[in-house]
Amino acid sequence: MKTICVKNAEKLQGNVWIQGSKNTILPVIAATLLGDGISYIHNCPMIEDVEVMRQLLACMNVTTTLENHVLMIDVSHARYAKLPCELTTKLRSSVLLLAPILAKWGRVELGVPGGCNIGLRPIDIHLKGLEKMQVTMHEENCVLTGETKRLVGTVMQLRFPSVGATENLIMAAVTAHGNTILRGVAKEPEIVELCNYLNAMGAHIEGVGTDVLIIHGVVSLHSCDYCNVYDRIVAGTYLLAAAAIKSDIRLYGITDITYIKNVIKTATDLGVNVIKMDQCLWIRSYGQVREGDFKTGIYPNFPTDLLSVLIVVLTQADKNSTIKEMIFENRFSILTELEKLGASFVLDKEQVLIKGMCSLDGNDVCATDLRQGAALVIAGLLSRGETNVKNISYIARGYEDIVRDLKDLGTDIEYV
Ligand code: UD1
Repeated sequence: MKTICVKNAEKLQGNVWIQGSKNTILPVIAATLLGDGISYIHNCPMIEDVEVMRQLLACMNVTTTLENHVLMIDVSHARYAKLPCELTTKLRSSVLLLAPILAKWGRVELGVPGGCNIGLRPIDIHLKGLEKMQVTMHEENCVLTGETKRLVGTVMQLRFPSVGATENLIMAAVTAHGNTILRGVAKEPEIVELCNYLNAMGAHIEGVGTDVLIIHGVVSLHSCDYCNVYDRIVAGTYLLAAAAIKSDIRLYGITDITYIKNVIKTATDLGVNVIKMDQCLWIRSYGQVREGDFKTGIYPNFPTDLLSVLIVVLTQADKNSTIKEMIFENRFSILTELEKLGASFVLDKEQVLIKGMCSLDGNDVCATDLRQGAALVIAGLLSRGETNVKNISYIARGYEDIVRDLKDLGTDIEYV
């Protein structure tokens, strides 16, 4: 199955269960290496990135099973291994294994990370931080090599609050010798969840959720169970889509709205009515999008991962809108595809002007990254006739089953 065929939707109606978070589970899986024995991770999304992470763990003789959204990880017989480029280039989060492997074995040999083509995506902050903790890092022929006698706590200021670098450095610090103070760290929900998980494993991290983390190195960590949170980006995809299509839907699995408040605020500005119920978010709209000027940013600002969906929705606004992308250089690949459907834009460096009141016509479009691909599916719902989204393997990296979810919301969509 390489294509999703999606037809124009007059309304969204129904209930959908929001899957567990991709960006939370990946660092949590990496962190299990720091413990011992068996861990059970509940609400694990059945997505391609998790599969690749399991293959990477298998290289190190770590046993995993994934059934009914419960991921079992047994690190009892883990042994050191080089991790090949063929696997590491399949996802960005392979880089998160750097710190746990160094902490466990004092050395690492890992192919460079891959992930979506949304910009340069350097890893200098990860490497500089590890070097400050007494690791000698080296990169040659797409392989990262590192060695340390012992990770040692340090004080450092991150030049940018990178999510991945913050995660790696936290994992390096939890069992390092002495204390580490990390200033200017990312505060995304994924960081909070990782810290909570590590603290439950016996780590001692203070300042969780703030931009300064104080980490007291402990001798060892133990295995522990964890229940993954809902995926705020998947939830945000349907929440924003509701702005452009008459809707009466409920998103289940969102028991606490803290992590999605920023997206709810944007959806509300666009004209969506959102009510927090006991077990779900109840979302209603007339499908009339209000224009606006938006920008992405580090948490708690609007997430860059939902930029593409917001662009799609704003093509339906009653006037022109703008969005500024503040995190990645290359998040605008969707524009060319949307032009094939009849949308119109003016791109000026990191800011795009989106022409409103655009009537979209179904056509063949191509996914080139995960979030852009999902946004194209939403664009298909807004387009007259039929839209075929090709290359959907990108979407499977992060959405458990976008076709199932949108079918649950009453739309005409299928794999072909
Ligand atoms: C994570 C998320 C991704 C999200 C992004 C920003 C995962 C698996 N992915 O990606 O979905 O869009 O956070 O919220 O959780 N940078 C450097 N040097 C570094 C590291 C980053 O210059 O060493 C730059 C990047 O090029 C980018 C910016 O910092 O421009 C943000 O990147 P970062 O926060 O690290 O994103 P990821 O962790 O890759």
